[in-house]
Amino acid sequence: MACFMFLRLLVVVGTIASPITAFFTSSGSPLFRCVLPAKTSPPQPPHAVGPFATVAQPAPTPVSPMPPSSTTSSSSLTNAPSSSGSLQPLGPGHGSGAPIDWWRQWYPMAFLDDLDPARPTQVELLGKLFVIWADHDKTWHAFEDQCPHRLAPLSEGRIDERGNLQCAYHGWSFSGQGGCVNIPQAEPEIKAVAERSGRACAKAVPLLVAQGMVWLWPDNSPDGMEASRSQLPSTVPELHDPAFIRGAWVTRDLMYGYDTLVENVVDPAHVPFAHHGVQAQRSMAMPLNVSLNYVGKEGVFLSLPRLANSTIEFHAPTRLHYLFDFTGFFQRVPLMKWAFRLEKWLRRLPPDTRPRSSLVTYTIPVGPGRSRILALFPRNFFAINKPRWLDHLERNAVLDGDLVFLHGQEREMRRPELKWEENIDRAFYMPTKSDEGVRAFRQWLVRWGAGGPRWADGVDSALPPRSNDRHFLMDRYTQHTTQCSACRGALRNIRVLKGVTAAMSLVCMTAIWTPRPASVLGKILGAGVAMAFGSWQMARLEKRMLFIDYVHAHK
Ligand code: FES
Ligand SMILES: [Fe+2]
Repeated sequence: MACFMFLRLLVVVGTIASPITAFFTSSGSPLFRCVLPAKTSPPQPPHAVGPFATVAQPAPTPVSPMPPSSTTSSSSLTNAPSSSGSLQPLGPGHGSGAPIDWWRQWYPMAFLDDLDPARPTQVELLGKLFVIWADHDKTWHAFEDQCPHRLAPLSEGRIDERGNLQCAYHGWSFSGQGGCVNIPQAEPEIKAVAERSGRACAKAVPLLVAQGMVWLWPDNSPDGMEASRSQLPSTVPELHDPAFIRGAWVTRDLMYGYDTLVENVVDPAHVPFAHHGVQAQRSMAMPLNVSLNYVGKEGVFLSLPRLANSTIEFHAPTRLHYLFDFTGFFQRVPLMKWAFRLEKWLRRLPPDTRPRSSLVTYTIPVGPGRSRILALFPRNFFAINKPRWLDHLERNAVLDGDLVFLHGQEREMRRPELKWEENIDRAFYMPTKSDEGVRAFRQWLVRWGAGGPRWADGVDSALPPRSNDRHFLMDRYTQHTTQCSACRGALRNIRVLKGVTAAMSLVCMTAIWTPRPASVLGKILGAGVAMAFGSWQMARLEKRMLFIDYVHAHK
């Protein structure tokens, strides 16, 4: 499969990759006119030098002790605690350390490229709604998505003339730190008091921008805010290495939950079947000798030598990271070896650079039975990318391949008699080593993940009803296109082209009824047919941005 994936890379064409976005942070202190209930300035990680500024220093070091870094090879993971022979499901009380606090984590919610600074964006995390917006300085902020006046969602509002967030309902405006800066209905004497009241403030939430992603810390209690200042987001280590490019990047909302998503990504064995004809072939299936190197509070670490000498690292609770080393493959294919040497010379890469690539997914717990994935594909060779929207057509087809059966599997898992939390091997029959990652992740979830995400107060943890509506489950338009700046723009252009070519075809077809020399008529007819064909192709492309049914039986 690795070879297949690599060969796919070779046919990549398109624009030069975006330069690597290093460590950014949100900062600035917009007008703050009322007394806030808690300190709300965004956290300032080490090395932050201002909004949208590239930081030249080395990558910041996480403050909490972590297992081996993602950039290590599989062999270096041997220092991590190893599993003790045959795996025994961990029950409550085994292992060390308290479970993680789901609300005191940094979650990447969106790629910066996909956010429109001209309007606020609503995001959902742990069952709670937040609004992300940018002021006139392009500094990003996050609030709970609720106006303090009468609770209308602030995400329906606008950025006012002074760069504040204005509620759509009665026009109250809020500065980046949540302070109320205008109550249009207030008389001067009321205004002075009301705008300074803590009750007039929007509830700000810690936010930072790192590696081109906007990260939220959902706990905005005073203690939570304090904790956010001492913890850094789980960024991609490779992207601190200038030899790497970000590769492709894509996000999508999924109609299955966080644990189902992690379980799916940590399982490489499903790829030849679930993504046959899109990402791999069924004939590529083989025994996968996945070995577990570590499971603990920090996550799960596995190695998979048969797949491009890869490692799989789950950095709890959001980053799931595959690392592939293509050195052996490059050496076996002389053309590749020389092409990479040439590229190293052209890009002035260090001589000891090995061809490596990664698949990095961030798994976001949106709500019960719903999740969001952010995926990046960093690599240190072939610094050329397809146009992003074209790449997303393929990435979305991959995600479609899992959607329907995972939605169903998740509901089967909830059957009360299964009690998978007590013993995952009672619910699943997993006789091969290819399921090691799944078993280890479920162990982590029970022991260190408190059984699953802790949803916001008042959120029913029951799954939404099972749906057989394939249009709903694989609604590419809502789940991806509307949220992706590249696909939004491409869809707009495709629709214009479809209309223009259809109109030109109609004009040509009308013109052939006017008496003209045969040679001219032939040209008009040819042009009409070409325009009709172009319009039909645009209609097909348009459909691929809205919905394509994925039927495994037809693949
Ligand atoms: S609800 Fe927001 S201003 Fe009234
Ligand atoms: Fe897209």
